[in-house]
Amino acid sequence: MARRFCNFCGKTEDEVGHLLAGHRGVAICDECARLAVEITAEQDLSRSAGDLLLVGLGSIVTNDPRLTGPILDGAIALRGGRVIWIGPERELPSRYRELATVECGGRVALPGFVDAHTHLVFAGDRAGEFERRMGGESYADIMAGGGGIGATVRATRAAEAPDLLEASLARADRMLSLGTTTVEIKSGYGLETVTERMMLEVAAEIGNRLPIDVVPTFLGAHAVPEEYRLDRDAYLWLIEEEMLPAVAPLAVYCDVFCDAGVFSVDEARRVLAAGRRHGLRPRLHANQLGDTGGLELAAEIGAVSADHLEHVTASQASFLADAGVAAVLLPGASLSMRTAQAPARVLLDAGVPIALATDCNPGTSNIESMQFIVALGVLEMGLTMDESIWAATRGGALALEEPDKGWLRVGAVADLVVLDTSHPADLAYRPDRSFTWKVIKDGRVVVG
Ligand code: NIG
Ligand code: FE
Repeated sequence: MARRFCNFCGKTEDEVGHLLAGHRGVAICDECARLAVEITAEQDLSRSAGDLLLVGLGSIVTNDPRLTGPILDGAIALRGGRVIWIGPERELPSRYRELATVECGGRVALPGFVDAHTHLVFAGDRAGEFERRMGGESYADIMAGGGGIGATVRATRAAEAPDLLEASLARADRMLSLGTTTVEIKSGYGLETVTERMMLEVAAEIGNRLPIDVVPTFLGAHAVPEEYRLDRDAYLWLIEEEMLPAVAPLAVYCDVFCDAGVFSVDEARRVLAAGRRHGLRPRLHANQLGDTGGLELAAEIGAVSADHLEHVTASQASFLADAGVAAVLLPGASLSMRTAQAPARVLLDAGVPIALATDCNPGTSNIESMQFIVALGVLEMGLTMDESIWAATRGGALALEEPDKGWLRVGAVADLVVLDTSHPADLAYRPDRSFTWKVIKDGRVVVG
């Protein structure tokens, strides 16, 4: 095989240690990539979201697979919304010293959290229902009795758009202040065209008003609404023929709650195929309440992710790995449901990439903090600190098909959190507090 070399400086792979190769055989070394990012940022100052140098970082969790551990005593230079330099501070080239500088006093930097599964746009709350569940009633019984998702659907349909926006913005703002820089948001509490659209418009408006990236997902198949209870087929027809054409421009993904007592595999397949015809890529709620075929459907159709997965065996995990489907795990939901956690270790051992997310919703996981989710990943799911942080950052980014996020290396999106501690393990060791010191989005300090 011919020796590979950097097409820009000509150095060989042996000389530079690592080459990033493109599909057509062109390769670039790290130093040339760094310069290219810098030159591009300088040429496009209108897009520049601020220039910043972080120094005095006790450790940087990079998630860069080329490194064996965190960068100690590190520095990060940001320009044009991207990372343009990262490494031990003693190696920082002097030209970066002219950037506006933040002295971090030995604190820890992580990539911004990527919360890959939320239902954060909703009206009302279900504290009363929660109390009943804690008294022994089941989620399924409450749902069958018209509560559960149905209760939030009634509240959301009754809400005025500005009120829905205000409540949802407040949630997203708290998430941002806890270090979430990208958030996926699902519809699914409208279950009628006008309210499903309103939810996705609110989601978009959150992204316009706050320095947080919003990834919108259409979840019209979250439940069969009351008025279609006796004619499920008519509701599926409504999703295909009326909702999807109306909401597709506002969403990136289509999701279905494919589970016991909700939507069957055949119904989910039908909705996700229709979503695809409208350009929405599939992901799905699978194997949360039972093992009813959602996981196999995710593999069959090549879903971007299968989410929840509390009921999964080792052979199903291998099946998912072979199909290249990411697993989005939601430890807050099992905590609030008092049910067993998804078998994160089994999935990891099978080679499934896992993400951790809040599932923020008024029924089963009224949780906004990805810091708390990292703690649950460790304390409830048996992940190591490194695995849990990876899943809440890089894992989330991969599950949302955002390859430049969730890690810190040259060229990455400059989204990061600086924690007010010198030890990342504090996220799980002291799980009841926020460790946010600063949140940086697109290279700009937005919190702290
Ligand atoms: O992800 N599983 C489906 N949907 C939500 C629950 C929604 C609700 O109860 O309002 C979840 O857990
Ligand atoms: Fe969910």
